[in-house]
Amino acid sequence: MKNIKPDHVAIIMDGNGRWASNRKKSRRYGHKKGATTAKNIVKIVSTNKIKYLTLYAFSTENWDRPTKEVSLLMSLFIETLENEIDELNSNNVKIRFIGDRENLSKKLQDKMENAEKMTIDNTGLNLFVALAYGARWDILNAIKGIVTRVKENQLDELEIDENTLSNHLQLGNAPDPDLLIRTGGEKRISNFLLWNIAYTELFFCDCLWPEFNEEEFSNALDFYSKRKRRFGSFV
Ligand code: IPE
Ligand code: IPE
Ligand code: MG
Repeated sequence: MKNIKPDHVAIIMDGNGRWASNRKKSRRYGHKKGATTAKNIVKIVSTNKIKYLTLYAFSTENWDRPTKEVSLLMSLFIETLENEIDELNSNNVKIRFIGDRENLSKKLQDKMENAEKMTIDNTGLNLFVALAYGARWDILNAIKGIVTRVKENQLDELEIDENTLSNHLQLGNAPDPDLLIRTGGEKRISNFLLWNIAYTELFFCDCLWPEFNEEEFSNALDFYSKRKRRFGSFV
């Protein structure tokens, strides 16, 4: 079976720091450029009529970075949301955040909630931004949710199946990613969407996130279109 176009693309946007240090610039400079790339890619994905895009912006493990870098990333998230939300909304993008919001500042949490509310009825691109996200946290959180529902007699434990867990995960009933792109040269998943990428096609690209562009994205789509997805069965 040939896949013309993925319905859901997920991206691990890696390499901002190295891109900046190659230019003898601060990591902040790299992250700022990375935010611009993210904005451009959202447009490109939208134009390509791909229905779902999930961007990995900050992992649960990224909290272990130096305080200075964490706080500059947090202010960049606030700044980017403030600057981009109106345009995203007018482009009919529906934005949702996935991850553990608890440790984020009240200010950022409010911006995230407002952005979600503002775009909830939009029918164009479904954009998920993974912020303070870790797949192990996601799975654990889903299990806790299921246990609560069983305890409160809203769910019969004998009825728990793969769909039950999927629906309790952060991506809910969104389709699994068809294509996962990781920039920055590392060939690993770094705790992103472990459950949802069981049969996802993986595209690793050496280019650093700030230099990822339409051409690289079209290389990824081209790679995807040549895959034979068998899902374990004989085709
Ligand atoms: C990705 O770029 C952005 C985040 C993880 C927040 P990095 O900051 O990881 O950049 P490198 O990998 O150090 O180059
Ligand atoms: C993965 O990049 C997380 C994000 C892009 C948000 P990292 O730079 O944190 O991953 P590792 O440390 O190389 O695995
Ligand atoms: Mg990195």
